Amino acid sequence: MSRPDAAQLRTARDQEEAVRRELEEYYRAGRPPWDTGVTPPELVALVEGQEALPPGRVLELGCGTGTNATYLARHGWEVVAIDLIDKAVAQAREKAAAAGAAVRLLHGDATRLDDLDAPGPYDLFFDLSCYCGIPPHRRDAYAAGLTRRAAPGARLLMFGYGPEAFDDPISGVTADELRSRFTGWDLVEATPGTNPVPTFWFTLRRTSRS
Ligand SMILES: C[S@@+](CC[C@H](N)C(=O)[O-])C[C@H]1O[C@@H](n2cnc3c(N)ncnc32)[C@H](O)[C@@H]1O
Repeated sequence: MSRPDAAQLRTARDQEEAVRRELEEYYRAGRPPWDTGVTPPELVALVEGQEALPPGRVLELGCGTGTNATYLARHGWEVVAIDLIDKAVAQAREKAAAAGAAVRLLHGDATRLDDLDAPGPYDLFFDLSCYCGIPPHRRDAYAAGLTRRAAPGARLLMFGYGPEAFDDPISGVTADELRSRFTGWDLVEATPGTNPVPTFWFTLRRTSRS
């Protein structure tokens, strides 16, 4: 097995640090552009639609200020929600408390779940444009963390921007990438979003213990 050299490690760490700093700036500057306060219809369909899932345990990755974690808790789900940025987590705690919703909010890294108290198993994972911003070298760890915590038949509902939506070489997500990275999962749906740039709603389903 070849190990990354010191220069590669520096680059990887630099990428993570740059992403974290940028996110922090957004939250410190006020309300970030993605923080609509509205739960997307794709999640509403999964929770309240004709073929709604029965409430179970859900882990939200990159929960931001907690709109959807609060929504899920109010609909009977047992919710753990994680964000990398402390200010986002603080706002999410306030939002959940104001709504009287029981959400366990954790400040931490969705690619380092072993460092957090979030053992699962989870029936549902929800990711609203978190994964697509994670540097490539941390994405295997993200997939492995979810896979280890997935209940049999668990789903992952993910919204992501395509690589074309970014002007950097590391962001974005494609169906092909998810198919090859999430072993033991089936990509059961990849529906284009309605944004002016390429976006997708992906649904993955845990199929085996491999
Ligand atoms: C585009 S924002 C979306 C926030 C929220 N899902 C929403 O739609 O309002 C991406 C979120 O993921 C968080 N994030 C990015 N990388 C993360 C990581 N490695 N672990 C946990 N959260 C992360 C960011 O801090 C940010 O809140």
